[in-house]
Amino acid sequence: MVEQIEVTGGSRIYIGCADELLKELLPQRRIIVISDTNLDRTHHDLIAPYEHILVGLGEQAKSLVTLDEVYRKLIELGADRSTFILGIGGGIVTDIAGFVASTYMRGVEFGFVTTTLLGSVDASVGGKNGVNIGGFKNMVGTFSQPKFVICDVALLHTLPEREFRAGLAEVVKTAILGDKELFEMLEQTSFEELRKNDELLSEIILRSVKVKASVVAEDEREGGRRRILNLGHTIAHAIEKCTSKFSHGEAVAIGLFHITSSALAQKMITNNDAERIFSLIEKFGFATELPIDHKQLLDAIKGDKKRSGNAMHIIFPTTIGAVEDRLIPFEELESIL
Ligand SMILES: NC(=O)c1ccc[n+]([C@@H]2O[C@H](COP(=O)([O-])OP(=O)(O)OC[C@H]3O[C@@H](n4cnc5c(N)ncnc54)[C@H](O)[C@@H]3O)[C@@H](O)[C@H]2O)c1
Ligand SMILES: [Zn+2]
Repeated sequence: MVEQIEVTGGSRIYIGCADELLKELLPQRRIIVISDTNLDRTHHDLIAPYEHILVGLGEQAKSLVTLDEVYRKLIELGADRSTFILGIGGGIVTDIAGFVASTYMRGVEFGFVTTTLLGSVDASVGGKNGVNIGGFKNMVGTFSQPKFVICDVALLHTLPEREFRAGLAEVVKTAILGDKELFEMLEQTSFEELRKNDELLSEIILRSVKVKASVVAEDEREGGRRRILNLGHTIAHAIEKCTSKFSHGEAVAIGLFHITSSALAQKMITNNDAERIFSLIEKFGFATELPIDHKQLLDAIKGDKKRSGNAMHIIFPTTIGAVEDRLIPFEELESIL
């Protein structure tokens, strides 16, 4: 069965079989696929039928150098404004493909097949794309909605356990900030069950996407409400800045744990709700200890690109399914975190 979610500006997310959906959705035009070298091994059959450009792996591939290479290959292939770009991959590929498509010849149409859990519930939803400059993440990019995003849970079977868990952190985040029932579903399952039960995973992805899509629909360009999607992320970004030991999703789980502790200390959330959040994070096997000291944490937060002058919007959980956005002046950060 295919589930559809309307995002914004006519963009649609489909949850179902990628092969069948591609047959239905791809325009009768020239298609050029952008994917990565891993996917060319794990899902060669999906990529091989199309002309394709493969990019490298990891954050270092999300760079201006890669963009330059991809633009040049598109020119070599004679891609024009009628060419359709199809990104097949995780968040790195979709961020690159989205940026390339929205800038090549001032913009061509594009769509995604998302192949990681993080990509399915987060990176492919919402129309943000971009690349890193030096050590600074996502410094150049656009807001530009794909025509469609296809999410096929069967493609996630080959995903390494660590990558799957990283995506699960964003699902937990989404449940805390906006879907109590999703949170309950997660409480009633296990990591192992989620990995093998495609029907349950599809349902969980569907619910996560709906929450993100509804937040994005209210605030496409992150002027206000979209900030709530940053739950756990201020601490996560600080961790990622100070150590490379944790992936983004792993850092988000630590961030969720500690921002919940802070909310509890301030009596913004009940003991019971905070305990439920702590238990879920622990059950899925995430590390929870803060890997950096207090001073490193505060310094990194003060340098965050999302700061607002000498203050920072911090999102606190207030119950399961709701959060509060508070602007915290830097001088209060220390006592609050
Ligand atoms: N644009 C946005 O709104 C947004 C939101 C969240 C994250 N992001 C970005 O997403 C990126 C992270 O995305 P990610 O976690 O998907 O990382 P990723 O794209 O690097 O994928 C993780 C790894 O898994 C491999 N892989 C992908 N699909 C696979 C599959 N089905 N089977 C086996 N291996 C597979 C990839 O080759 C890669 O090595 C970050 O750069 C982040 O900034 C963007
Ligand atoms: Zn994130």
